[in-house]
Amino acid sequence: MIEFQGVSKWFGTLKVIKDISATVDKGTTIVLCGPSGSGKSTLVRTVNRLEPIQAGTITVGGTDIYAKSVNVNALRTGIGFVFQQFNLFPHLTVVDNVMLPLRRLRQQSAQGGAADSTSDA
Ligand SMILES: Nc1ncnc2c1ncn2[C@@H]1O[C@H](COP(=O)(O)OP(=O)(O)OP(=O)(O)O)[C@@H](O)[C@H]1O
Ligand SMILES: [Mg+2]
Repeated sequence: MIEFQGVSKWFGTLKVIKDISATVDKGTTIVLCGPSGSGKSTLVRTVNRLEPIQAGTITVGGTDIYAKSVNVNALRTGIGFVFQQFNLFPHLTVVDNVMLPLRRLRQQSAQGGAADSTSDA
């Protein structure tokens, strides 16, 4: 479960995330929608600690991910996302792109799926 509690973030004087509180339950799928520039990507990036927050807490599986004791590299092996900018490998399929970190870092294998997941980067 991902839990946002009173999360706020500024870029300089621009307050991009304004006191967000929400939960995303394990196994659920949510859609975050809003106008361009409303902070969707910034909010997603906070879950991987790519954007520091100035107020509130974000917990993933009960762990406060902005706690000083959290190993950010270990944290990121358990939280995956695809960047909005084109940071995918063009020679791989969509499935292979998504699975690459799981296969490389977590030694997981393909479990079915429609695409050919046998290639590697
Ligand atoms: N690194 C940054 N430094 C300064 N301002 C930023 C930075 N990243 C984003 N912003 C600003 O924060 C606001 C939210 O941007 P964000 O990219 O999160 O919006 P978005 O909802 O994902 O937009 P889009 O629908 O266009 O993808 C925008 O005003 C943007 O210009
Ligand atoms: Mg965006």
